[in-house]
Amino acid sequence: MNHKGTLNIETGRLLLRRFMEGDAPYIFRNWASDPDVSRHLTWSAHDNVENTEKILASWLESYDRPEIYNWAIVHKDSGQPIGSISMVALFEDLQKCEIGYCIGKRYWGMGIMTEALKAVMKFLFFEIGFNRIQAYHHIDNPASGKVMQKAGMRHEGRMREFAMNNKGEYVDVDFYGMVRNDWRD
Ligand SMILES: CC(C)(COP(=O)(O)OP(=O)(O)OC[C@H]1O[C@@H](n2cnc3c(N)ncnc32)[C@H](O)[C@@H]1OP(=O)(O)O)[C@@H](O)C(=O)NCCC(=O)NCCS
Repeated sequence: MNHKGTLNIETGRLLLRRFMEGDAPYIFRNWASDPDVSRHLTWSAHDNVENTEKILASWLESYDRPEIYNWAIVHKDSGQPIGSISMVALFEDLQKCEIGYCIGKRYWGMGIMTEALKAVMKFLFFEIGFNRIQAYHHIDNPASGKVMQKAGMRHEGRMREFAMNNKGEYVDVDFYGMVRNDWRD
């Protein structure tokens, strides 16, 4: 594979770009402070913007590495980061990776994550050379499964106690995947 790191990706409504210095208040306000966003995720909602600042600093540092893919989803209308989409696991030998994402509640149901996921998968398959991209969601979070389906992934099964939620409980997940040969423009 030919890792290039987190490069800008533009879609109709969105700019996917690296997180930047100064993004913390937007991250905090637009999604990270909301327990409804983090309900089915591994992290808990941030109590204060200082938590967000710390995490943002670690993300900025990580961009030195070319195998880090972690985009801020910026809505072109407002110019603000409204969510994130990133590679959460990399299996280099098998040219395979896992994707995770979230956006602020006021932007749900507008097709934004489907637009972002399609663009990221296209980039990872054809610019970087991945053969397989996978993702999974808590079984009580069907909207995320809908995003995966609409972006072209196939449901591959339900895995028992596959992940852990932000309360430290094992959770069952629905697992999705797409291989490069499945891609249709
Ligand atoms: C899941 C999430 C990313 C979806 O993003 P989004 O931009 O709203 O997604 P889209 O608008 O592209 O598509 C959502 C689809 O789910 C559908 N949907 C919403 N709630 C649903 C539900 N309870 N059951 C089934 N489908 C549902 C929507 O109708 C839409 O489908 P449609 O376009 O056919 O109408 C967003 O809700 C989110 O960030 N949630 C919190 C974080 C999270 O759960 N991340 C994923 C972890 S795996």
